[in-house]
Amino acid sequence: METVVSGIRPTGKLHLGNYFGAVANFLKMQHEYNCYFFIADIHSLTTHPTPSDLHNTVKHVLAEYIACGLDFNKCTLFVQSDVPEIPELYTYMNMNAYVGELERSASFKEKIRSNSDNVNAGLLTYPVLMAVDILVHRAHKVPVGKDQEQHIEMTRQFGNRFNRLYNVDYFPEPVAFSYSDKLVKIPGLTGVGKMSKSGGEADAIFLSDPESVNTKKIMRAKTDEGPKALGQKKPEEIQNLFDLMALVSAADTIEVFDKAYNACSIRYGDMKKQLAQDMELFLKPIREKIDDALKNEKVIGDVAKMGAEKARESASKTLKDVREIIGIRKFY
Ligand code: TRP
Repeated sequence: METVVSGIRPTGKLHLGNYFGAVANFLKMQHEYNCYFFIADIHSLTTHPTPSDLHNTVKHVLAEYIACGLDFNKCTLFVQSDVPEIPELYTYMNMNAYVGELERSASFKEKIRSNSDNVNAGLLTYPVLMAVDILVHRAHKVPVGKDQEQHIEMTRQFGNRFNRLYNVDYFPEPVAFSYSDKLVKIPGLTGVGKMSKSGGEADAIFLSDPESVNTKKIMRAKTDEGPKALGQKKPEEIQNLFDLMALVSAADTIEVFDKAYNACSIRYGDMKKQLAQDMELFLKPIREKIDDALKNEKVIGDVAKMGAEKARESASKTLKDVREIIGIRKFY
C-alpha cells in the first residue's frame, strides 16, 4: 500500500472550504492508503505564537479532525513535535540543502515581502523541514494545494540528492496530489473568490461556530437586485449561493430555487434561509463532536499518543537506516 503524508498548519478554526477542499480528501484517502496526517506545530513556530495560543490551536485542530471523521484505526494522526526523529532528520538534511535554492523558493520570497521584520532561519529552511515530514515516512503521495507544489518539487530534489550523495536508492520520489483543481471551488460569502479566512470574518463559515453566527453570515451574503430577464446567467455572487447549496442541500431543493431564478421569481431571502437550515443540518453533528472532543481531553490525548507511537515506529526505522547510510554509527 502506498504511503501518504500531509501536514496541517495549525492556523485556527477549519472552515467549509477547508472541509470540502482538504479534509474530505483525507477522509477518503484514509481507506485507500497508509496515511500519516499531522499537525505541523514546529513549522508554525516561524511566526512566534504565544505558548498558550500554540497549545490551544493544536488542540483545536486535533479536535476538529477527529470530529470530521479522521479515524485513528484507519490513519495515523499525530503532532509533529511528538516525533523527535523529524528534527533529527532535519539536521542531517540541512547539510544537503543549499542557501541559494532555499532563497529562490517562492514561499520564502513571499515571506520576506510580507514579514520583512521576521525573516528567521526557520523560514529559510521551511522547505527542508517539510521535505523531512514527507521523507521520514518515505511517502509516495502528498495531498496539498497548488501553492505547495514547489515544496514537493524541493522534497524530490533533497531526496534524490541524498540518494546520489550516498549512492543509495533510499528515498522514493513523492508526488503532489493536487485536489484544489479537481474539486469544485468552495466560494465564500462576500461574492468574490473562494472561501478563505483572509477574505474576512464574513466570508467563511467555520465548522465550530454556533448556528446563530453561521445563519447571520449566510443571511448577509452578497446578492444582487435579482434577475431582470428570463433564464439570465447568474452573476458570481448568486452562482456562489447555488454552489454552496450544492454542498449541503438536496437536489430537488436546489432545483426549486434554480427554476425560480430562471423565472425571475426568486426571493433571495428564502433561498438563504433554506441554505442556512441545510447548512445547520450538515454542521450540527460535526460541531457537537468538536465540542465533545474539546471537553474530553482524554480523547485528544489518546489519539495523539497513539498517533505519536505509530508515527515514531515508521520514522525511527528511517532514521536507523539514514544514520547507517551517513556513517553515524555507534562505538558502544
Ligand atoms: N507547508 C504546508 C502548508 O503550508 C504544511 C505542511 C508542512 C505540509 N509539512 C508538510 C504539507 C508535509 C504536506 C506535507 O499547508
